[in-house]
Amino acid sequence: MLHYYLANPKRTGALCSSSNHLAEVITKNIGIEQALNIIEIGPGMGVFTKVILRKNPNAQFFTIEINPKIANKLQTRFPNLDVVLGSVEFLQTIMQDKGMPYADVIVSGIPWALLSQADQKAFLQNIHNALKPGGYFATFAYLLPTIGARRFRKRIYKDKLFSEIKKSKIVWDNIPPAFVYYCKK
Ligand SMILES: C[S@@+](CC[C@H](N)C(=O)[O-])C[C@H]1O[C@@H](n2cnc3c(N)ncnc32)[C@H](O)[C@@H]1O
Repeated sequence: MLHYYLANPKRTGALCSSSNHLAEVITKNIGIEQALNIIEIGPGMGVFTKVILRKNPNAQFFTIEINPKIANKLQTRFPNLDVVLGSVEFLQTIMQDKGMPYADVIVSGIPWALLSQADQKAFLQNIHNALKPGGYFATFAYLLPTIGARRFRKRIYKDKLFSEIKKSKIVWDNIPPAFVYYCKK
């Protein structure tokens, strides 16, 4: 991940992959085991992907990764995984191509804090549109008080897109420490 970070820090958003502990936490309490349709956005090297596949091997599941080199590595690591090279920006079109009318669960590790306000707003709206009522969107934030992180927090609460937003406990063994937002449509 360091290599990709150095090549494009803004888009990659992290020096290293998330911890296995964060992968367990982000896939908890969102009904992933019963979900029929799951999407992961920004899978990176697949730390969350591995846990999603373990918890629900039977769902229709695809990942969307914007970086072609990372997408290739992920495909090599998980030969049977449906890896879409693309962006959350085009989520609705990708879902149409896949014949997935809605998602029960969307998990995302994209670097929200580094996005512009307009992109934060547009991408969250795309995710909300993609979810079925009662579906969950789970994402994480680092425990760093940056302007972008504060903007993202404000955005998910103030836009009132989601009917319920809960936060996990801090995952201290992640680098940097992080917590999860569980957002219910
Ligand atoms: C911080 S890494 C997280 C990777 C992994 N989920 C983890 O936690 O270890 C963010 C990933 O999101 C991808 N990404 C960034 N912007 C994206 C976008 N608009 N659509 C899809 N993927 C994106 C990056 O290429 C990178 O692989």
